[in-house]
Amino acid sequence: MKKIKVGIAGLGRLGKVHANNIAFKIPNAELTAACSIVPAELEYAKEKLGVTDVYTDYREMLAKADIDAVVIVTTSSEHCWQIEAALDAGKHVFSDKPLGVDVAQCKQAEKAVERHPELTFMLGFMRRYDKSYAYAKQKIDAGAIGTPYMVKATGIDPEALVEGSIKFAATSGGIFLDMASHDIDLMRWFMGSDVCEIYATGATFKHPEFRAAGDDETGAAMFKFKNGGIGIVHVGRTAPHGYHVETEIIGTEGTIRVSGVPRKNLADIYDAEGARTECVGSFPERFDEAYQLEMQEFIDCVCEGKQPGVNVYDGTKATEIAYATTEAWKTGKIVKL
Ligand SMILES: NC(=O)c1ccc[n+]([C@@H]2O[C@H](COP(=O)([O-])OP(=O)(O)OC[C@H]3O[C@@H](n4cnc5c(N)ncnc54)[C@H](O)[C@@H]3O)[C@@H](O)[C@H]2O)c1
Repeated sequence: MKKIKVGIAGLGRLGKVHANNIAFKIPNAELTAACSIVPAELEYAKEKLGVTDVYTDYREMLAKADIDAVVIVTTSSEHCWQIEAALDAGKHVFSDKPLGVDVAQCKQAEKAVERHPELTFMLGFMRRYDKSYAYAKQKIDAGAIGTPYMVKATGIDPEALVEGSIKFAATSGGIFLDMASHDIDLMRWFMGSDVCEIYATGATFKHPEFRAAGDDETGAAMFKFKNGGIGIVHVGRTAPHGYHVETEIIGTEGTIRVSGVPRKNLADIYDAEGARTECVGSFPERFDEAYQLEMQEFIDCVCEGKQPGVNVYDGTKATEIAYATTEAWKTGKIVKL
């Protein structure tokens, strides 16, 4: 079996997840190089992943490493130039979301992808590869709920991890840019239409530090779609019960809810606290399988010379809508796209 040789850039929280999948779980891929500006992460690559060809300079990895493809899991502001440099160096590219931190950067990445139709490019909107979301999409496309006219999405980080969110609040770009891109992408995917109007607001009741940093701990936005459909997104940082990701798609003939109860697994516990189910604790736990499936899709597309379903334009759209949502939240005005 031909194995695609991959170099990974970024070995932080999510980089380690992708690196382990490529190294140990994707049969037609091989992790041959790694790049990080954090020396301890390069030690991790050597010790835990068996990757000895390591770099602190991304361009040096592109020039010297024996790789067919690059997986970019660096800080969001680095994605676009790294995408462009890799494509221009003849490497296939997987970049995690967001595509870029502003629309101008995204357009630059679009041009690079358009310059290289011979190379595979994929953006990491992994929720589309989650089995339940993929099943919901399949049902909607088959007409199971008639015409979808509303998508309600909730994404709340666990209170247990709030200290980290507070630390990065001043530089995160605001709650909508930081947290809503997956929900925005899913809404567009399920609705089959694009956003034309946005209203957004925020609230902070528990941790005033968010306000002090110019952010909010909770955000709510309402979207109007070009086809007349409605989107409602609720993002937050303070779910006491765990990592709460839930999506409801309402159509003329029915409704689909994905993880209406964000349960950890199928175990019900009966004890002194009652009859209950535990909640999933974090994004790597909830989307463990989706991260693996999206990486398998990328590698298979490289092998077969194909382009995946999630493209560079989906990335630009999500960034554009997240920016407009941030503007609506900051100004209190309806923003038209
Ligand atoms: N798809 C998802 O669900 C999801 C979840 C979490 C994070 N993300 C995205 O993944 C990316 C990484 O997030 P994280 O939480 O792992 O961040 P992190 O801060 O834990 O890790 C960032 C990594 O980038 C590396 N890096 C930064 N600049 C670099 C450069 N110029 N060259 C080489 N390496 C560089 C750092 O060394 C570090 O390894 C972000 O863009 C984030 O938005 C996506």
